[in-house]
Amino acid sequence: MKKKYLLAIFYIFSTSVLSAESLTPNANAETMLLIHKTPTCGCCSKWIEHLNMSGLKTSTQNHENLENIKKTYGIKPEYRSCHTGVSEDGYIFEGHIPSQYITQFLSEDHPNAIGLSVPGMPLGSPGMEVGDRFMPYDVLILYKDGSSRVFAEIRKD
Ligand code: CU
Ligand code: CU
Repeated sequence: MKKKYLLAIFYIFSTSVLSAESLTPNANAETMLLIHKTPTCGCCSKWIEHLNMSGLKTSTQNHENLENIKKTYGIKPEYRSCHTGVSEDGYIFEGHIPSQYITQFLSEDHPNAIGLSVPGMPLGSPGMEVGDRFMPYDVLILYKDGSSRVFAEIRKD
């Protein structure tokens, strides 16, 4: 009897905490990403600046070789780029993803997704600006089984 009562109290407490959280307008304002990169990569630093200017918080870790990081997080070679961001809840953000899609992804529910990727280093993506050159590219959503689908098509600067 007593146990049931405590469970009921806990239930009321946890649901009220959850609903208070979902009412917070900027739930992702404090998003923190740990960025794994190589020490000499300039485009990584420029991408990080782009994230910071959009209000995402970052910390960085340099590695001579990122092979182990890509393997650890299950990022297949065709999805890889020069850096790997990892959110506090373990989602990965590979390559030069525009910050708005990171915020969008984290605010949504994506069962079986491991994160997002912009494979390679498309010219004109954040951190890859070269004059006004622009290569259309896709932001992919990656799934645990190794598959992916298009999350966003970036067709214009
Ligand atoms: Cu890069
Ligand atoms: Cu990079």
